[in-house]
Amino acid sequence: MRHLMSPLDFSVEELDNLFELANDIERHPKKYAHACDGLKLVTCFYEPSTRTRLSFESAMLNLGGSVIGFSDAGSSSASKGESVADTIRVVSCFADICAMRHPKEGAPMVAAQFSGIPVINAGDGGHQHPTQTLTDLLTIRSLKGHLGNFTIGLCGDLKFGRTVHSLINALVRYEGIRFVFISPEELRIPDYLIDMLKEKNIPYQEVISLDDVMPELDLLYMTRVQKERFFNEEDYVRLKDFYILNKAKMERAREDMLVLHPLPRVNEISVEVDNDPRAVYFKQVQYGVYVRMALILTLLGISV
Ligand code: NCD
Repeated sequence: MRHLMSPLDFSVEELDNLFELANDIERHPKKYAHACDGLKLVTCFYEPSTRTRLSFESAMLNLGGSVIGFSDAGSSSASKGESVADTIRVVSCFADICAMRHPKEGAPMVAAQFSGIPVINAGDGGHQHPTQTLTDLLTIRSLKGHLGNFTIGLCGDLKFGRTVHSLINALVRYEGIRFVFISPEELRIPDYLIDMLKEKNIPYQEVISLDDVMPELDLLYMTRVQKERFFNEEDYVRLKDFYILNKAKMERAREDMLVLHPLPRVNEISVEVDNDPRAVYFKQVQYGVYVRMALILTLLGISV
C-alpha cells in the first residue's frame, strides 16, 4: 500500500505521470466522473483548513466517490485523548483513503504505520505539505511548460512555512533551478535546507529586499507569516507586514514572471495585484483539485 508523506515519495518520472494525468483530467473531466464510484475519502483534519480539505472533498466528489470526516480536532475523539494510531485504525474500517492534517510534525507518518488504507499528508506542523507542492509543481509545469531552468524567489515566512520547505525539497530534483530566499532575518530558511542545497551544489541567495531581486525572478512564491507558529504575538505583529507585493513592485518584474501563493493571503499581496495576468494564485487553487484527483486515482491504483 502506498501513502504520500513527502513529495519525494514519488520519483520524478512518477510525478510526470501524475501531472500528465492531472492535465488529462482538466481536459476531459467527464471521463473520470465515475472512477471512484462506491469509494470513500475520509478527511481527518486536526488543524484549520479551507482549501486543502475542500479541494480533497471536491476531488473525490468529482471522481464519483463520497467523503466523510472531521474538520476540527475538538469534534473528534482526539479531544477525549484518542491517539492518531487508534483513530486511523478506526477510520480504516469506514473509508478507502485518508487525507490527514495535524499540527504535530510526523503525525501522518505515525498514522500511515497503523493504517489499513492509503494516508495522504495534508500538512504536518511546520514540516511538509506535499499536496500543496504537487499543486505548485503542476501550476508551474502547466503555465510555464516545463519544470526546471528558472530562478524562483520564495518570499515571506521561510522559517515556519511548510509549503516552502516541501517545495524546495521537490524542486532540487530538477535541472537549472536557482533559489532566491527573501525574508527578514528572523524568518530565514532553516539551516537543514541550506545545508542540503550546499551539499547538492544548488545555487541560492538569501536577501532581505524584495525590490532588489524582482527583475531577476521567473517565479515569485509569496507566503504569509505563520501566525499560529509564533511563540509571542509581539514578534508576529512586528513581522506580519514586512512584505507587501503591490503594483509598483510588479512593475519591476519580468513580463512573464508568475506570482504563486499557497493561500490564504493576509496582507502580503495587495488586492490590486489580483488582476495582473501574472498573478496565478487563484488558478493554482484549481490545479490543486486536478492534482488531488490524479493523486487519489494513483494511490488507489485506479486507471481510467
Ligand atoms: C498553507 C498551509 O496550510 O500550510 N495553506 C494551504 O494549505 N494552502 C499555507 C498557509 O497556511 O499559509
